[in-house]
Amino acid sequence: MNGNFWNRLKKPIFAMAPMADVTDAPFRRIIAKYGKPDILFTEFVSTDGLCSPGKEKLLRDLIYSEEERPIVAQIFGKNPEKFYETAKLIHALGFDGVDINMGCPDRRVCRSGAGASLIENPALAKEIIIATQEGSNGLPVSVKTRMGYHKNELETWVQNLLETRPAAITIHLRTKKDMSKVDARWDEIVLAVALAKDEETLIIGNGDIQNLKEARDMVEKTGVDGVMLGRAIFGNPWLFNPDVNVENISFEEKMKVLLEHAVVYEEVFQGKKKFAVMRKHFKAYISGFPGSKELRGALEKTNSFKEVKNIIADFRYIGKDFEVA
Ligand SMILES: Cc1cc2nc3c(=O)[nH]c(=O)nc-3n(C[C@H](O)[C@H](O)[C@H](O)COP(=O)(O)O)c2cc1C
Repeated sequence: MNGNFWNRLKKPIFAMAPMADVTDAPFRRIIAKYGKPDILFTEFVSTDGLCSPGKEKLLRDLIYSEEERPIVAQIFGKNPEKFYETAKLIHALGFDGVDINMGCPDRRVCRSGAGASLIENPALAKEIIIATQEGSNGLPVSVKTRMGYHKNELETWVQNLLETRPAAITIHLRTKKDMSKVDARWDEIVLAVALAKDEETLIIGNGDIQNLKEARDMVEKTGVDGVMLGRAIFGNPWLFNPDVNVENISFEEKMKVLLEHAVVYEEVFQGKKKFAVMRKHFKAYISGFPGSKELRGALEKTNSFKEVKNIIADFRYIGKDFEVA
């Protein structure tokens, strides 16, 4: 997919949010199969790390498969030259776009001058976007951010970002200080929509949306070009499938997908990432069924697909018919 894929997407756009140690390559592959969103993003990857001798290890976070396209690599950091170099790498790896994280509230990330702390340094933020655009060899560059750092400063911040003409700005409708303690302030996004009205930059809203219906209602209410959904994907790779209501997915079907997810996880990450990272998904897939608690408890200690399969088979569900890859 060459050029700016954002402009070729049918609006409204429904995007899968990047979530570190959640929307990794295996889960994105499962999501693309059961309910494909209009865009997928990688987890955020450090530009410092990708420009260091330890780069090889981080490349596991930039694994993707063709069925995920359009797939955008998300990066974070504070040094424009490293963004330039990383953008070149992302282009060479065949991604469809580059997204810059200017919203991460993590203390370590912010203390280093990256993530949400760039909201406090608008001049550097612009330099970073421009360096990324220069390095990306024509790939569209977008930004994911929050509406402010200590307080709501959406108007001046979005205005600042628009000066660099990014392909899209995704706004998580909270400040950094809010963390996730207050509800996302969706009424504020109309200001960003108005600011970008005559620009090519798309405005995507994010925060607390549970399903496609709520996303569509928000588009209707606010005029955003699209909505990004994050945590609602836990245990529900059908989230973006308009024909499926997760309430109607049987336990057997969920177990089948859980096992498939675990197989893909091992295939992609064997020797590269601990199986323990996969366990949080088990909790999400298994709830509201008789015996859920016991099954979750047993799966919490697993270290391989085989162990997962055996435990599920012991529960006399479909696990025994599932071939070990
Ligand atoms: C476990 C977890 C990891 C996250 N990792 C990232 C990340 O790597 N990059 C990013 O831009 N946002 C990250 N986020 C924020 C989400 O992309 C999203 O903005 C946030 O969850 C709000 O959307 P939601 O209410 O639909 O979940 C993460 C959120 C969670 C819960």
